[in-house]
Amino acid sequence: MPLDDLTVFLDEHEDEVVEEFRKQVVSEHGHFRGVVHLLGKAMYRLVVGYFRSQISHEDIKQLAYKVAHEGNQAEISIGEFVYSVCLGRKLVLDLFQKGSFPPFTLVSAMIKTNECFDMFLVHAVSQYTTLKDNDLEEKKLFIERSHKDRLTILGQMASSFVHEFRNPLTSIIGFSRLLKEDFPSLPYVDIIENELYQLNYRVSQFLLVSKKGVIHQKKEIFSIYKLFEEILSFLYPNIVDVNAHINSYIDPAFMLNGYRDEMKQVLINIISNALDALHKKAGHKEVVIEAFQNGKTATITIANNGAPISSDFLPVIFEPFFTTKELGTGIGLYVCKEIIERHGGTIMCESSEEQTIFSMKFQGTGLPAKL
Ligand SMILES: Nc1ncnc2c1ncn2[C@@H]1O[C@H](COP(=O)(O)OP(=O)(O)OP(=O)(O)O)[C@@H](O)[C@H]1O
Ligand SMILES: [Mg+2]
Repeated sequence: MPLDDLTVFLDEHEDEVVEEFRKQVVSEHGHFRGVVHLLGKAMYRLVVGYFRSQISHEDIKQLAYKVAHEGNQAEISIGEFVYSVCLGRKLVLDLFQKGSFPPFTLVSAMIKTNECFDMFLVHAVSQYTTLKDNDLEEKKLFIERSHKDRLTILGQMASSFVHEFRNPLTSIIGFSRLLKEDFPSLPYVDIIENELYQLNYRVSQFLLVSKKGVIHQKKEIFSIYKLFEEILSFLYPNIVDVNAHINSYIDPAFMLNGYRDEMKQVLINIISNALDALHKKAGHKEVVIEAFQNGKTATITIANNGAPISSDFLPVIFEPFFTTKELGTGIGLYVCKEIIERHGGTIMCESSEEQTIFSMKFQGTGLPAKL
């Protein structure tokens, strides 16, 4: 057996080659110190075992996994790892040159050595990559989790702050109403009242986002016609400010089954957006409101003839915090969508040079049972 002599030769030179390996690796990569001896010795024993047919492919795989694991723990990069394995291969091949073996023995020894190292490298590198990927995934998960925790705390803080804010606000609104009743000619009370309503509207919007606002609410059957009347009088100062014409075609028999205050918020949001869109427009400014029932489907549309929404923005206007306004929060339409869906309805928007139109459709649970 020509390789028998060679394996004896390998046994005799083990300490010397492993030591040379250790020296070269440590001089290049000082931080390998802890694992280099294990790596050198393991690889060397692997080659010898492979030559003697004492080691199977499965053994090579297991050793590769073990070494990859330790290398990864010692924070050795994959490049440094591959470099040191190739160095080990080179030292073994150099050693063969020093013996006086016939060319045939040398060639088959080189083929076997390469076979063994290649297999070892393939398994080690794939395991190394898996371990690194797992590490990355774990770090990503940790970052996501702590980010989520912070957002939750922030959300809880904001909603409890808004709750605290709402109680005194409600009583100020009540007292300003009493003031108006007792002293009808007192100037500025209307302005104060309107500003307070605006503030209350913003606060309610935040509460709806934090989902705490709906807890105490009950479903009721209410008239959309009356709701629009209330909303248009609430928005009257804005409508005058923008100088917009409101054309409304609302079926007086249109009833909805749901949360009146929430629906009010939706319609205020959409009409306010329409008024914002008309603010800078020259010429005729118009908001057209239509609300009608057709069989088992009820539809509300609110359209304006302001500048269109660009097709890039259209798919994201219902996303939270999307805004193109300097003082916008971008939660208006997000809240609308949540509320409409809570009523079993759908909301969509189409925009062209002629008009931007928001359509809401309700079926089934959003409508009174007698329909
Ligand atoms: N009728 C409309 N015409 C043109 N653009 C609109 C219209 N309605 C909504 N948009 C666009 O959609 C964006 C998001 O609207 P959304 O109501 O969610 O937030 P916002 O109005 O910017 O801020 P907020 O309502 O919180 O004050 C707006 O910034 C605007 O770019
Ligand atoms: Mg808005």
